[in-house]
Amino acid sequence: MAANTRIKSLLLVISLSLPFLCSSMEVGYDSNAIIINGERRIVFSGAIHYPRSTPEMWPDLIQKAKDGGLDAIETYIFWDQHEPVRRRYNFEGNLDFVKFFKLIQEAGLYGVLRIGPYVCAEWNYGGFPMWLKNMPDIQLRTDNEVYKNEMQTFTAKIVNMCKEAKLFASQGGPIIIAQIENEYGNIMSHYGDAGKSYIKWCAQMAQSLNTGVPWIMCQQNDAPQPMINTCNGYYCDSFTPNNPKSPKMFTENWIGWFKKWGEKDPHRTAEDSAFAVARFFQLGGVFNNYYMYHGGTNFGRTSGGPYIATSYDYDAPLDEYGNLNQPKWGHFKQLHAAIKLGEKLLTNGTVTTKEFGNGVNLTMYTNGGERFCFLSNTDNAQDATIDLGNDGKYLVPAWSVSILDGCNKEVFNTAKVNAQTSILAKKQAEGANQLTWSWSPEPMRDTMQGKGRFRAKQLLEQKQTTFDVSDYFWYMTSVDVNETTSSKDVVLHVETSGHVLHAFVNKKFIGNQWGTAGNLKFTFEKPVSLKPGTNIITLLSATVGLPNYGEFFDSQPTGIAGGPVLLVGDNNVTTDLSSNRWSYKVGINGEAKRLFDPLNNSSGWRSTKELATGRRMTWYRASFKAPSGTDPVVVDLKGMGKGQAWVNGHSIGRFWPSMLADENGCSDTCDYRGEYKAEKCVTNCGNPSQRWYHVPRSFLKGDADTNTLVLFEELGGNPQNVSFQTTSLETVCGYGYENSTLELSCKDGQTISEVQFASFGDPTGKCGAFNTGDCDVKVSVSQVEKACVGRQTCSIEASAQTFGKDDCANITRRLAVQVSCES
Ligand SMILES: *[C@@H]1O[C@H](CO)[C@@H](O)[C@H](O)[C@H]1NC(C)=O
Ligand SMILES: *[C@@H]1O[C@H](CO)[C@@H](O)[C@H](O)[C@H]1NC(C)=O
Ligand SMILES: *[C@@H]1O[C@H](CO)[C@@H](O)[C@H](O)[C@H]1NC(C)=O
Ligand SMILES: *[C@@H]1O[C@H](CO)[C@@H](O)[C@H](O)[C@H]1NC(C)=O
Ligand SMILES: *[C@@H]1O[C@H](CO)[C@@H](O)[C@H](O)[C@H]1NC(C)=O
Ligand SMILES: *[C@@H]1O[C@H](CO)[C@@H](O)[C@H](O)[C@H]1NC(C)=O
Ligand SMILES: *[C@@H]1O[C@H](CO)[C@@H](O)[C@H](O)[C@H]1NC(C)=O
Ligand SMILES: *[C@@H]1O[C@H](CO)[C@@H](O)[C@H](O)[C@H]1NC(C)=O
Ligand SMILES: *[C@@H]1O[C@H](CO)[C@@H](O)[C@H](O)[C@H]1NC(C)=O
Repeated sequence: MAANTRIKSLLLVISLSLPFLCSSMEVGYDSNAIIINGERRIVFSGAIHYPRSTPEMWPDLIQKAKDGGLDAIETYIFWDQHEPVRRRYNFEGNLDFVKFFKLIQEAGLYGVLRIGPYVCAEWNYGGFPMWLKNMPDIQLRTDNEVYKNEMQTFTAKIVNMCKEAKLFASQGGPIIIAQIENEYGNIMSHYGDAGKSYIKWCAQMAQSLNTGVPWIMCQQNDAPQPMINTCNGYYCDSFTPNNPKSPKMFTENWIGWFKKWGEKDPHRTAEDSAFAVARFFQLGGVFNNYYMYHGGTNFGRTSGGPYIATSYDYDAPLDEYGNLNQPKWGHFKQLHAAIKLGEKLLTNGTVTTKEFGNGVNLTMYTNGGERFCFLSNTDNAQDATIDLGNDGKYLVPAWSVSILDGCNKEVFNTAKVNAQTSILAKKQAEGANQLTWSWSPEPMRDTMQGKGRFRAKQLLEQKQTTFDVSDYFWYMTSVDVNETTSSKDVVLHVETSGHVLHAFVNKKFIGNQWGTAGNLKFTFEKPVSLKPGTNIITLLSATVGLPNYGEFFDSQPTGIAGGPVLLVGDNNVTTDLSSNRWSYKVGINGEAKRLFDPLNNSSGWRSTKELATGRRMTWYRASFKAPSGTDPVVVDLKGMGKGQAWVNGHSIGRFWPSMLADENGCSDTCDYRGEYKAEKCVTNCGNPSQRWYHVPRSFLKGDADTNTLVLFEELGGNPQNVSFQTTSLETVCGYGYENSTLELSCKDGQTISEVQFASFGDPTGKCGAFNTGDCDVKVSVSQVEKACVGRQTCSIEASAQTFGKDDCANITRRLAVQVSCES
């Protein structure tokens, strides 16, 4: 008893002292530092959007971000998901942002809360719920009382939830910075004076919420104090905040780019991304946030657009599935460590610059006797060798920055990648293939007969009519034709604002068509034959992600809004059907019947020996075994057309493998030098723009045949080759410059089984295709084998000490290694 009491009182003491343990942190700033509890800091942050992964993935993503040298994790808040119906909120599952921030705190990291609540983010409708747009007298993102009231209500709700969970640093929580609005400065001029007063209101409203942490506004040159205006882009080194007291912040460092349906895969090199970061800190940067650090997946109908793909991989340091994207992740990790060596001087030093000509500058930070330097070469072609006298001689490749600790020791160069490269292989999952399919036609009897749920004598705008509860919206009308009216050579002419149109006349499919990301509006024209009597025209319009960016993007029409829809006969005799009596229906019947959900529906599926293929508007279903192990799972949908996919009732997003990326413009190599743009380094030419779709492990159960994949196929496809695969790390490579240490790691549970290539000298090629050059030190392979085989992680010094002095001593040597990993 006595012991128990003692324990109790001990617990009491501990809990009483808890407020001190996670006591409030004071977050301040000046032009050179974010100041946390008096400590002058530079902050590396990375974006991970909680709804683009699952709560089961969060701890691992956060840990990998921490291991990669980040101090903070940033996320937007997604209004449309949290308040799908006005004043009916959802914070469950992967919408539990409070849990997400608590995990960030548990990992010992800071959080950055970007509320918006307009978020852009390549997210459906920029994160606005559709009911908002449909409120009477509303105008979004401007000085409009209805809008401001809703924005304030939602923003205050989020802030209050954070306060209740003690998430702000001022309360001892992780959140050190919050954001209001988002890139409004980019489009503000279109809103006139109302835009200017709106942004002032945003600032006051945000301040009034008393979070106790600084607020930022990105891309907002007129941000009112104390809002900090910040920069988004590929490079922000030349950005200057609008107030001399504000820190220089890079809220979105675009280290990659997103993909659209029909487009190639964008990549940005580790060298150029690191260059952007190093340049930013060279020129006084204080806070850098990678956009994205983990991009993830646009599950369900969350992708923006239109035509933004389901994968939001972004070529981020963590790939869509949560694997390390090497060498990016490792190169950034080394970069962070190198810059942190200078943290004290960068945040509290005197800066001087010395020009060497040809784009080479030395930036020196000093305080007392201490020094820290950046030596940059912004020329995009000429390497430079710079002699700093007693401080040494440095080769600074074109378009690179060297970081010199103490101004006399190169600890990092952005163009010299020493981090390992990995090749992730997709492996057929055992037992998860050879799927047995059943199918079910989408029931369309009603719509083929022109029967809808409501009518109007006009062509309605799609998203505002459907409230965006489905991609699909039916427009139906009838046309009476008598014997004398010519019915030959009639052309059905439909002008639509997109995004996809399927046309039927008298239950017969006539054709389909879609626009492109650059050209949403298109005209569908097909000859039709009308019969005497009543003819039924059925048009199915499908959205593929609502717009998320640009001035007045919210008012951009979707669907056949206003048309016109015409029948053009002989001699251009035109019948305008636009103000006919149109019948409407929102969504397709299979959605209402929940054909995607195995819990609800097990009847009505047909199992035929011959697989039904090439059928439009068809549901497919198959059971499968969860692939064993813990490697991320993908489903290969090659052979399918377009539609949506579900695993055990969870949507894994839209699919469209029949949409191929352009044949041209890809190249195996990518020159990191020179300014980046999204078209610069692309791959995947001529292939399905997205073939593999992420199936998070938490969507799967057991290992018996108890998992269900359901596909809704709109265009006609063949599921014969649909299969489940796992992504696994099989091959690891590295290039180490002379005198650097090359570190190679297999993932947990694996060891290096074989050295497939090793050459210290002047090897060429890249991972998977290395070649020895003129110089190849004989002991290369045996030395690497000695250091690595049988280990999960090994490090090798790429130096004369390891490999001997004599060979190839006349050149700067590199070590190239390729090893395989095995469980
Ligand atoms: C900043 O540098 C000055 C001058 O060396 C020094 O007196 C001061 O303590 C430093 N401040 C911090 C917070 O390190
Ligand atoms: C180099 O430094 C000079 C002097 O500070 C500056 O004017 C110039 O813009 C710098 N160039 C680059 C490429 O940073
Ligand atoms: C056939 O249609 C035309 C044009 O609408 C109309 O003028 C004519 O009276 C119709 N004839 C019959 C037999 O209904
Ligand atoms: C019908 O109209 C189209 C487009 O205005 C025109 O190009 C075409 O020559 C016209 N045909 C006739 C037979 O008048
Ligand atoms: C589907 O199943 C869920 C859970 O079993 C149930 O709550 C819901 O009412 C069902 N819906 C339909 C349309 O059968
Ligand atoms: C399941 O699907 C069948 C066939 O489409 C349909 O008739 C039935 O109503 C559905 N059941 C439920 C519970 O939704
Ligand atoms: C399935 O794969 C086989 C073998 O690669 C190929 O011949 C066939 O055309 C594929 N079928 C579809 C529908 O893609
Ligand atoms: C590597 O280090 C050795 C010994 O410190 C030195 O002699 C050599 O010049 C260095 N090589 C390079 C390329 O820096
Ligand atoms: C360096 O020496 C090797 C032989 O030791 C020779 O093959 C090679 O051409 C030389 N390279 C250079 C750049 O001088």
